[in-house]
Amino acid sequence: MNIQLILTSALLLAAAAPAQEKKQQIEKLAPYYPTPEFVVEKMLQLGGLKRGEKMFDLGSGDGRIVIMAAQKFGADASGVEMDDDLWKQSTAKIRSLGLEKTARIIHGDIFLQNYSAADLITVYLLPSSNDKVRPILEKQLKKGTRIISHDFEFSGWKPEKTETIDDDGEGRSHTLYLYRR
Ligand SMILES: C[S@@+](CC[C@H](N)C(=O)[O-])C[C@H]1O[C@@H](n2cnc3c(N)ncnc32)[C@H](O)[C@@H]1O
Repeated sequence: MNIQLILTSALLLAAAAPAQEKKQQIEKLAPYYPTPEFVVEKMLQLGGLKRGEKMFDLGSGDGRIVIMAAQKFGADASGVEMDDDLWKQSTAKIRSLGLEKTARIIHGDIFLQNYSAADLITVYLLPSSNDKVRPILEKQLKKGTRIISHDFEFSGWKPEKTETIDDDGEGRSHTLYLYRR
């Protein structure tokens, strides 16, 4: 190998490194565990989502909440997802349904987005993750924004309403918490 080739390879590796580092820095706030579709609908109903409103799903998985928000509720819906495959899969589904104008998945980190335009936020993360996300929401959300959390409360916030689904047909119960900033 001549010196020029060695230098070029070293430069290419150095250029690729920051992208890799950046990706590794995303903290996984919860594993992928989808919300059953009928619970998704209850979340959006409890959140009072209206046509034209902006909603964000923090950690959007296969995109089911975003897709239902756009398709059934007529909202302008965004998801944030760090996982490459889930991002690809959900983006492809949005495209196949022709929902690109009102639905999108941001391939990135929940912590690095701007939620100040949101009318509704949905989350299905872990209790410790809610604690980590809470300061961003407290800082960014406009007055009146609703937040629906599936199964886990936000400590320090008082829910305006709580709804429990005792059995989803698979022996699993679900609790939904509605908050308003
Ligand atoms: C429990 S799943 C919920 C999926 C979807 N919201 C639902 O209810 O069906 C949590 C999702 O958050 C994603 N996630 C975790 N930490 C994240 C982060 N820091 N940035 C973006 N996505 C993240 C995971 O990859 C996973 O898909």
